[in-house]
Amino acid sequence: MRMQTLFLSLALCAVPAVFAADEPSPQHVKWMKDTEDLQHKIRDGQDVAANAKSLAALYKEIEGYWGKKSEVGAKTTKDIQVAALALATAAAGNDAAGVASNRKLIGGSCRACHDQHREKVSENVYRIK
Ligand code: HEC
Repeated sequence: MRMQTLFLSLALCAVPAVFAADEPSPQHVKWMKDTEDLQHKIRDGQDVAANAKSLAALYKEIEGYWGKKSEVGAKTTKDIQVAALALATAAAGNDAAGVASNRKLIGGSCRACHDQHREKVSENVYRIK
């Protein structure tokens, strides 16, 4: 009996969590798409310094949204700007180790926010939580 009550309350708790995930705005989807485009160019070594600067500028904009929304959002969007500018400097100075380490930092921040705020609904469908 006690177990049943426990399961029932767990089930009730789970319902609001499902509805708490928001459909991302077209703006948010575009931000992530632009992020991916820039990341691919950087990975492929195309105009790394310029594209890293664009990534920093993009995350300044994204920080405007996430900075108010959550601590993880504020931190990761700021950290990406810092690492992207350092990446631009490293690329301009042909510093391969600096490029690699800052790319790693950026990737870690993408992951940290995704772990906290990205909810997978189905294959290739994600929401904000
Ligand atoms: C502050 C939080 C945050 C940061 C930082 C962030 N993302 Fe996202 N991202 C999300 C959320 C939430 C979604 C799901 C909603 C959507 O698609 O807009 C998402 C979705 C995506 C998508 C589209 C769907 C998917 O998951 O394949 C891509 C691609 C993506 N992010 C790439 C990145 C990359 C690369 C970085 C780092 C350079 C990054 N994101 C940084 C929050 C973030």
